Amino acid sequence: MPVYFLGKRSRDFMLIRPRFSLLIVLIFVHLAHSQSKPVDAEGHQWWQHAVFYEIYPRSFADSNGDGIGDLNGINSKLDYLKSLGVDAIWITPCFPSPQVDFGYDVSDYENIDPVYGTLGDFSKLEKNGKQHGIRIILDFVINHTSDQHKWFVNSRSSRTAAKRDWYIWRDGNGSQPPNNWVSIFGGPAWTFDARTAQFYYHYFYPQQPDLNWRNPAVHDAMMNVSRWWYKRGVAGFRLDAVDALFEDPQLRDNPVLPGVNKYGDPNEENKYNDKLPEVHDVLRDLRKVADKSGAVLIGETWTKDVAELKQYYGEHSNELQMPMDLMFTELKFSASSFRQHIATVDASGGWPVYVISNHDIVRSYNRYGDGQHNDAIAKVIASLYLTLRGTAIMYYGEELGMENNDPVRKEDVKDPKGRLGWPLDIGRDGERTPMQWNTSPNAGFTAGKPWLPVPASYKTHNVESEQKDPSSILSVYRQVLALRHQNRALLDGDYIALNENDTNVLSYLRRYNNEAVLVVLNMSAQPQQISFDLTAQGFPTKIAHTLMTTMNLDSKNVSLTEISLEPFSVYIGALSR
Ligand code: NOJ
Ligand code: CA
Repeated sequence: MPVYFLGKRSRDFMLIRPRFSLLIVLIFVHLAHSQSKPVDAEGHQWWQHAVFYEIYPRSFADSNGDGIGDLNGINSKLDYLKSLGVDAIWITPCFPSPQVDFGYDVSDYENIDPVYGTLGDFSKLEKNGKQHGIRIILDFVINHTSDQHKWFVNSRSSRTAAKRDWYIWRDGNGSQPPNNWVSIFGGPAWTFDARTAQFYYHYFYPQQPDLNWRNPAVHDAMMNVSRWWYKRGVAGFRLDAVDALFEDPQLRDNPVLPGVNKYGDPNEENKYNDKLPEVHDVLRDLRKVADKSGAVLIGETWTKDVAELKQYYGEHSNELQMPMDLMFTELKFSASSFRQHIATVDASGGWPVYVISNHDIVRSYNRYGDGQHNDAIAKVIASLYLTLRGTAIMYYGEELGMENNDPVRKEDVKDPKGRLGWPLDIGRDGERTPMQWNTSPNAGFTAGKPWLPVPASYKTHNVESEQKDPSSILSVYRQVLALRHQNRALLDGDYIALNENDTNVLSYLRRYNNEAVLVVLNMSAQPQQISFDLTAQGFPTKIAHTLMTTMNLDSKNVSLTEISLEPFSVYIGALSR
């Protein structure tokens, strides 16, 4: 029928329709690309239900007896990880590297370091991971490369080299560096290169020159690296040192603060070489690429407060899906400090990403432990961060109560910054020791000599022994992780703080429709009595059905009017309306 025979409304519709259908198609294509299928009625994505587990590959499992963990070693432990309740592993850098910073100095982004295996081993791991329902997240070191990377080798070769401008080269102030910036690993952030008589900039070690992200060629090269790995089945990246990507184009001096740091350098505020606004342009671009593969971006985001953390999600949720809440690792072990922080995070609206440890900080077992109740405290902290709203990232061995094994002599230190800063900064070797698998020599990590020594605690704190003990830290992790995967309130429920004036016991509800989970954590060394009236929260019941507890209870139910808590204990119960 000719259009002019139709009424005005129909004519308008006919005119709109082709555009409308195009829009529908575009939206559909965008959705298909921008995310994978939601995993629940709330529209959550796979990474919101997943539990992530950080593996320091040097230290997880050694398959060939050279004393250094490798990809085949990780591959041989996927059954363990699956049974624990891990859905994705983040492997810290396993790319070719001179290993000055143990892999965070990458000399080739598109290969595997022979010490860890081959690209073929990576594919095997990826495939086997898929069969186990375990995704692989790689560590993407985008701020800097190794000084042995072919880009830097070219860049330093002459002032007119093709890749000269891929890094940050400047004339000095006479023989002095271009400005007062200091490296966070000690010493000036500038190194003089005699061949071309200029300084290059490095936020970290001199062997880690910073890339010049203002150069579009650098930008494109790094986007392509991410595409390259997505094609090989990688499910996302943990982005290293994102705060440090840009520097002030005028290279202004940082404001100097009183005192000196652990390396004897003047303290300064990183005003001109940290968290510059341009960082967000890069994150948005990386996200566009990630969205095409349904991949997740996790950020190493050290922030001073929750407002700063919030910026990393992007104004339109178009930057990092998972900026890590590393402030969580700095909280004092107390009900009040956790309650306050969780409330602020929850109110900020982003999807929380709780972390209690990683390869750069003292293990949570030592940080939270009081030296007397460390195992009980480890169970409390596990029950906390695995039952909160958000995604949790575990650190290998945390589930065993692995502890730091710090070097006691400078000559034993492997981490260069520990030698530079000794004895004020002893480096990070202590939190990177081999995974404790069993009671055999070297905790079953290697048939050779491990690259770092295993602490004596491996005799009791290891997978094999803890597996047999229903009250071990490992057994508590297993139970809480199993609950977290099955229980809708834990996966999707809101967070309601309870008894907010209690300074000893942290309690909260996770509510989802007619179900709720009550979490009660005694964070004190004394027994506590506690009671709840949850009528105002929509659950007038007086009874909770026990889901998990670290206490010996006589009955499967507890009365909410009186719960007796042992020192440093956990109670998790289900409520219904
Ligand atoms: C953060 C990493 O976690 C750390 O281990 C590394 O030394 C620096 N970034 C430099 O890449
Ligand atoms: Ca090995």
